[in-house]
Amino acid sequence: MAIDNLKKKSKNDSWRLKYHLIPEIGWLNDPNGAIQFDGTYHIYYQYVPENANGGKTHWGHMTSKDMVYFNQEPIFISPTEPFDIDGVYSGSGIEKDGKIHFFYTGNVKQPGDNDYIFSGREQNVVHIVSPDGFEIQCREVVISYTDFPVGFSNHIRDPKLFEKNGHYYMILGGRTNDNRGSILVYDSPNLEEWNYRGTMMEGNEDQGYMWECPDFFELNDEDILILSPQGILPEKYQFNNPHAAGYIIGKLDWLTMKLSSETTFQEFDRGFDFYAPHTFEDESGRRIMWAWMGVGDTMPEYMNPTVARGWQHAMALPRELSIENGKLYQRPLAEYKEIRSNKIKREIGTSDDLSGEVYELLVEMEESKAFHLKLRQDTELIYDSEILTLKHGKSGYGRRKRMTPIDKVTRLNIFVDTSSIEIFVNDGEFVLTTRVYPDIGQDLISFESNVKGTITYWDLKLEEE
Ligand code: FRU
Repeated sequence: MAIDNLKKKSKNDSWRLKYHLIPEIGWLNDPNGAIQFDGTYHIYYQYVPENANGGKTHWGHMTSKDMVYFNQEPIFISPTEPFDIDGVYSGSGIEKDGKIHFFYTGNVKQPGDNDYIFSGREQNVVHIVSPDGFEIQCREVVISYTDFPVGFSNHIRDPKLFEKNGHYYMILGGRTNDNRGSILVYDSPNLEEWNYRGTMMEGNEDQGYMWECPDFFELNDEDILILSPQGILPEKYQFNNPHAAGYIIGKLDWLTMKLSSETTFQEFDRGFDFYAPHTFEDESGRRIMWAWMGVGDTMPEYMNPTVARGWQHAMALPRELSIENGKLYQRPLAEYKEIRSNKIKREIGTSDDLSGEVYELLVEMEESKAFHLKLRQDTELIYDSEILTLKHGKSGYGRRKRMTPIDKVTRLNIFVDTSSIEIFVNDGEFVLTTRVYPDIGQDLISFESNVKGTITYWDLKLEEE
């Protein structure tokens, strides 16, 4: 009864996103198990159906034929087993011999006087075999918490699988006994028996106390390691969210499984709401990244007022990754061009008549020294003295200001939904993602600059199905 009421309430909610993935009710966090199998895209996610503030996570499930229109599917995994009773935590999927093999972390909190960091927590690696991404044929622990190497706290989780030359690899994020982040590597000839191969990379004390949600792939002749470190201290312009999410470009030695880095740790996103990115390669060979448009352990002033409406959090738009001239670029999937309509194109400075609540904006300009963009109720994007500043007022609900040094800006591609904004700068060189909660009818757009160029606006709308 209570849940039915909440569902009804959610439907008349002006902050429910129109073209992003959101939970019907309850809480959503990390993307999990992303895969394209027999043409169908599957995305699973950390999901708590009963409580918008979080709790024991399940794996929610959505499918799509085109990465734009998604169907809500029944919950895929619930925390029902002795090895995952306190949460079916994050993990990944891989195809082998016509089946999908999923690996996730079964979280268990033992009763007693525990700190659940160094005592009392089990994090088991659980293997599921599924013929189709819906049915579960087998569900068993393949690496028990008792089998992890010495030197680590109880926090070892988030298995991500990959294959190279017919051999399988699993990486896990860990927290050492002296509170440093680490990536553990296992390998297997068959996905059943797993051998510990040591660490792919270990952090120092300035690089966070725990590395969550690792991912690894080869892209344009580079090796990329993704991680979500907890506890990196803020620097002037970076690491200003409670926890960071980013990548290192390097070279993996496949004999020792050690990664030598060619770059320092780079943040994926310079906005307020981005964490736990998770990638997969689709059947056309694209490396696509999903991420949680949210973050954990936020300060009390940061809020998502949708909690009062029975739900919290969303998935960021999926992005295609590429490496160009040694740099990682993130671009919105080309498929989202299909939901554009009502195009309006203007020269910069000619008129100020744009407005909208769910739209895409493209600003193409000569190299700009300065501009000032305003959208929704009180969001501003200001470029001046080679610093790009994103600022919110009341509608940011505690999100105030982020500053990013960028030496030139020639292109802004902005995706606005009822309560989210994603800003792709210079064709994906930088991205800023943020949630906002404007009042109804706050839709004016203005762009001020002396620079020459054009602004293009499209409504974005999914066809009612
Ligand atoms: C990251 C994370 C993961 C964990 C999951 C639990 O947001 O803490 O490390 O598996 O969320 O929901």
